[in-house]
Amino acid sequence: MGKNRKIQTLLIIGAQWGDEGKGKIVDYLSKYFDYSVRFQGGPNAGHTVVVGEKKIVLHTIPSGILRENCCAIISNGVIIDPDILEKEIQELRKNNVEFEKRLFISNLCHLILPFHKKIDELSDRERKIGTTKMGVGPAVEFKVARRGIRIKDIFSQNLKSLIKDAVDYSLKIICLYEKDFVNSHNEKIPSAEEIYDKLMRFGEKIQNFVTDTQKLLRNEIDRGKKVILEGAQGIMLDIEFGTYPFVTSTNSSPGGAISGTGLSPKDIDAILGVVKSYSTRVGMGPFPSEIKDEEKSELIRKVGGEYGSTTGRPRRIGWLDLPLLRYSKKIGCFDFIALTKSDILKTIKESFYVKKYITADGEIDEVDSSLNLEDIKEVVLEKVEPDKIKNLLENELNIKVVINSRGPERNQIDISEELLEKIS
Ligand code: IMP
Repeated sequence: MGKNRKIQTLLIIGAQWGDEGKGKIVDYLSKYFDYSVRFQGGPNAGHTVVVGEKKIVLHTIPSGILRENCCAIISNGVIIDPDILEKEIQELRKNNVEFEKRLFISNLCHLILPFHKKIDELSDRERKIGTTKMGVGPAVEFKVARRGIRIKDIFSQNLKSLIKDAVDYSLKIICLYEKDFVNSHNEKIPSAEEIYDKLMRFGEKIQNFVTDTQKLLRNEIDRGKKVILEGAQGIMLDIEFGTYPFVTSTNSSPGGAISGTGLSPKDIDAILGVVKSYSTRVGMGPFPSEIKDEEKSELIRKVGGEYGSTTGRPRRIGWLDLPLLRYSKKIGCFDFIALTKSDILKTIKESFYVKKYITADGEIDEVDSSLNLEDIKEVVLEKVEPDKIKNLLENELNIKVVINSRGPERNQIDISEELLEKIS
């Protein structure tokens, strides 16, 4: 982007396998923006934002809701679990966050219903991806199969028949896994009638927030309002460009921000890639930089609080991985980088980064889609002082690190004059 160009719309994307600390960056930056938007993923994501003494965990609602100046939009690409969204709303009320006029939910969001969670559990038992079991993948499958139920359907005359169709379809799938399930399903997943009653109650609770968020965003951008778009997960979990099949079901790369909001690519002024100073991943799948020394990885896990905010699972720990970041820089088309958790590595004696990979065909210093990460035999590590990671990224990736987050608190963030100038 041009040196002096102002940023009206900023897109935040995770550069690794999620959990880079995007929530904190968005929470910090949203004081400069009018709208903060979640556009993909669902309750599989989660971030904890520390505000003073309080720790607030959000799964679906963008963290911008914690800033009074900022409105929060859950746009059409987000998959909503009614129970979880209700809990988040309660959590905001409990913490005296005023949001009644600042929360907007797209009428086009698809819903996670109890049978989606059941299918997720059965499917992952057989084909181990290590999903969060939150039902996001099956809800996306139903969406693509044109059998999904959207927020707007709750308010339509058709709701009963849509639920019946979805329940019947889900039973066909569930019976592929558990032959006798149809005989006992009443005990295991709620009936179509129960789901209907529940959605009616849910509809009443959220109706004041439901709107056409594409139209809202279009109008607001056209009249000069500033928007921050908050990606969930990270490039390596993207359904197209990630480590397929060990990925999530939505687009966590920049394309997701377009289909997931209805904005145009022309609306995005800049993309900020968020890089954690080491790598983590939850669930199965290749992880070339994974630290084999369990004592060391346990220490980083403990100090860095590397446990899933949705499932509580311990995250796998690895070093910063340059061949992989060169790839995500290209997929993410990053203009800038935000570096997070740069304080954590200071607590261990020596830290490293992955300089290159060794495969049967030779050395590789940049991943591309023809490479199977499973085929990497070895990685070449180099020592790095935690304070030098910022320089390393700038030199090796040729992108400016404009944010450095040094701890969990709001005031433990350094932001460059250049970025401040562009967003103020
Ligand atoms: P799903 O999104 O629940 O279907 O899970 C698919 C894969 O994505 C699993 O490896 C999950 O651990 C991973 N995943 C999904 N959401 C997140 C996230 O927010 N952070 C980290 N990993 C995630």
